[in-house]
Amino acid sequence: MNSSPLLRIENLRTFFYSQRKHAFVRAVDGVTLDVGRSETVGLVGESGSGKSITAMSVMGLLRGGPGVIGGRIEFESAHGRQNLLEKLQAFVEVHEQNGRVMSVSKDEKGWRKASERIMRNYRGKEISMIFQNPRTSLNPYMTVGGQIAESIRLHTANRSESEARERALYWLERVKIDSPKLRYKTYPAVMSGGMCQRAMIAMALSAEPSMLIADEPTTGLDATIQSKIVDLLEELKSETHISTLLISHDISVISRLSDRVAIMYGGAVVEFGPARQVLDPHEEARHPYTAALIDSVPSQQKIRDKSNLQAIEGDVLDTINVPAGCRFYDRCNRVKDGIRERCATQHPPLQEISSGHHMRCWLFAKG
Ligand SMILES: Nc1ncnc2c1ncn2[C@@H]1O[C@H](COP(=O)(O)OP(=O)(O)OP(=O)(O)O)[C@@H](O)[C@H]1O
Ligand code: SF4
Ligand SMILES: [Mg+2]
Repeated sequence: MNSSPLLRIENLRTFFYSQRKHAFVRAVDGVTLDVGRSETVGLVGESGSGKSITAMSVMGLLRGGPGVIGGRIEFESAHGRQNLLEKLQAFVEVHEQNGRVMSVSKDEKGWRKASERIMRNYRGKEISMIFQNPRTSLNPYMTVGGQIAESIRLHTANRSESEARERALYWLERVKIDSPKLRYKTYPAVMSGGMCQRAMIAMALSAEPSMLIADEPTTGLDATIQSKIVDLLEELKSETHISTLLISHDISVISRLSDRVAIMYGGAVVEFGPARQVLDPHEEARHPYTAALIDSVPSQQKIRDKSNLQAIEGDVLDTINVPAGCRFYDRCNRVKDGIRERCATQHPPLQEISSGHHMRCWLFAKG
């Protein structure tokens, strides 16, 4: 059995240049995580923490420059293991001073062309993605069945029209869309949000990829539909064993579906480990940000009592003026005298503190 992860992201950095502020937005600035075979990894963090930009960087679907400026994105396919960024490094030069990015020169046209050449073999075929707004991700001018069948002909060995149609119908049934034969001939505009998301999931899986990236797949749907889509994702997970990177700010969705969880703050992964450990409110080794994030989720009891519906205190990190020290320093309530100086001045590294449990915090730092 192959034990190396299917996807490994290492120290990914994706920046944008803000013309208005004459500075870099460090949208993704130190993302390290991996997704194993048949595994679901949840990616959680507040709005603006860089979750979607991480996903879009993997898919090579970013708009705005300079975009990806460093790191590795390794993916294992039938053709072997490849760092998807390896051949792109030649198009970018980063000038740093004291760990700060001062300037980036990037041949964006060259990068995009080379990236398209590489991603043609992966996007849709090896890695599929579903988004928050399924209706806008579907082609409004094609029937739902027509676009699923087209994707099947493009990405799988089912090349004839009748084979593709049969597979598309199979997938519409598999995602439990009601009246699959009727939906096959329906345009997205006349379908509900929940139905569109089922169709998107059918389309993503019909290409038989080895990995699915789901970016807020239930956000924007009403509550009952949300829970039905989570039920469907749970079923598909146990039936297809597809490796999944699941992005959500909904901890309950993440805890139901994820085997491991990565917590993001200010563009970086601050904790990564087994879901049960990372999300356990009684776990001793908790990153202060994870603890605040989980404590901010209202329990059923708190909802009933209408008490303690607390948000995390302080503002979400400004990813332009990133502090030199820990990015959570201003909001952290666990800073102690022995580490205060380091918290204020040095960005903690992501370290393995126990088997498979990684933490970016001076409280747990080794050495
Ligand atoms: N094209 C762009 N130009 C400049 N800044 C951008 C661009 N795209 C994203 N950003 C910034 O990058 C940061 C990360 O954005 P991202 O969309 O990844 O957040 P997120 O974690 O997915 O948040 P949400 O939960 O709201 O979806 C944000 O501060 C966002 O404003
Ligand atoms: S490094 Fe310091 S400031 Fe950052 S989370 Fe840990 S204790 Fe808090
Ligand atoms: Mg997002």
